[in-house]
Amino acid sequence: MITNTSMLRFQVRRDSERPDAGTLLPLEAAGVSSPQIPFEIKRIYYIYGVKAAERRGFHAHYDLEQALICVHGSVKIHIEVPGEEQEIVLDDPAKALYIGPMVWREMYEFSPDAVLLVLASEHYTETDYIRDKAVYDENAKNYFRK
Ligand code: TYD
Repeated sequence: MITNTSMLRFQVRRDSERPDAGTLLPLEAAGVSSPQIPFEIKRIYYIYGVKAAERRGFHAHYDLEQALICVHGSVKIHIEVPGEEQEIVLDDPAKALYIGPMVWREMYEFSPDAVLLVLASEHYTETDYIRDKAVYDENAKNYFRK
């Protein structure tokens, strides 16, 4: 995985004696001894109804940490830091893409039924966004040189 990103894998709960009863997937945030989500969750949002030809994202965050879970359908995520880039397919509700600070991301090829759930470490603040790629490239060079 590229710098400041990782895949999180979650344990699902199923009852072998009740195969038709489906699946339950619990997530605990930081604050318990073995959290599934490595930060405190202050905000949740979800993206759905995105046409296949559309791309979203095109930004990075100075401080925010996020976990992206495709709870239904599938979506591709392009993640990038200076000198490294990767394409992640999210198509499993039991996996999340963790994205830390200063990672450029774009989301695309949403399936018609895709629901992308995002868990975020901070409240919404527009000043935490970097939406200009040239500004990102300049800031990121310095950030990752540290
Ligand atoms: P934006 O983060 O630009 O979406 P994406 O990166 O998926 O293309 O957000 C779209 C709009 O929604 C923008 O006007 C800001 C607003 N918004 C909030 O009000 N609260 C939030 O938590 C988020 C993520 C966005």
